[in-house]
Amino acid sequence: MATRIATVLPALVTLMLVAGNARAQEVGDATRGKVVYEQYCVLCHGEKGDGQGHFSQDTTPVPRDFRQGTYKWRTTPSGSLPTDADLERVLITGLYGTSMSSLRTTLNHQQRLDVVAYIKTFSPRFKTDKPEPAIVIPPEPAYTAESVKRGADVYDKFNCAQCHGDGAEGDGPSADDLTDDWGNPIVPYDLTEGHIKCGDGGPEIYRVFIGGLNGTPMPSFADSISPAEAWDLVHYIQSLSPTYPKNLTGAPNKPIDDFPP
Ligand code: HEC
Ligand code: HEC
Repeated sequence: MATRIATVLPALVTLMLVAGNARAQEVGDATRGKVVYEQYCVLCHGEKGDGQGHFSQDTTPVPRDFRQGTYKWRTTPSGSLPTDADLERVLITGLYGTSMSSLRTTLNHQQRLDVVAYIKTFSPRFKTDKPEPAIVIPPEPAYTAESVKRGADVYDKFNCAQCHGDGAEGDGPSADDLTDDWGNPIVPYDLTEGHIKCGDGGPEIYRVFIGGLNGTPMPSFADSISPAEAWDLVHYIQSLSPTYPKNLTGAPNKPIDDFPP
């Protein structure tokens, strides 16, 4: 058994590297993407990409206005554009608890790349700007009771309760007064749900404090939080619901961009 793993593992790693490189070179075609958009996205995100589609009034939160190039779920630092893989990932996971559902089985990888190329044409930012290099997510230490306890102190130290509340249910003293960059009221997420909106693993939670969520009051703590504190904080959040997957052994995490084509 041990030998089998020893021979299969390097082959797998090589395959993953090849797949990763292939992905980096792939680009979508905006002309084909427009066709996908008109079938699957326009009813919410609108003809002009302004978030004013037919159904836009019926959903909370409202569909994203793509014209500013402001995206929340990225592997890039606060304020940066997202990568194509970041945008594709949203189409794969969907956004939990919102009307933006997963298109993993509806669209294939090429269609997802094409529609990503098309939505980028709504914002002039993508012509003049490039996504900044990805934030660094150091290896996750094991999830332990001690780490959770330290994480509760980190939650206090950075005053997350101001918005998310003492019990992290999204009901802190500032919760009722927040708006997003588009002028819509926005609520701090209830972290006891057992799911965040985009992805559920440790690295996805980690990147939220480091990258912040562009266009929302959820700030980046990149300049003040240490990697050890950030991982303790991830574990504290995960302790709030049995639903969050937990890394009990400290095994290497899958990179955020590593999803099946
Ligand atoms: C039923 C309505 C609906 C449909 C259909 C829909 N979306 Fe969305 N989408 C939303 C909503 C609502 C949000 C905002 C969620 C939030 O910010 O919490 C959103 C957000 C997004 C975001 C922003 C993610 C980020 O990181 O900020 C992208 C990208 C996106 N949608 C792409 C698409 C594409 C491409 C399609 C079609 C293939 C599509 N959506 C179809 C409702 C929809
Ligand atoms: C100024 C208010 C504010 C502060 C302070 C704040 N948050 Fe948030 N946070 C928000 C808002 C608003 C959202 C919801 C954004 C959305 O749904 O678009 C959010 C969302 C989140 C999410 C969910 C992300 C997702 O993908 O769904 C996590 C995790 C989170 N915050 C953790 C924290 C932690 C930990 C701290 C302290 C280090 C913190 N926040 C401090 C306002 C805040």
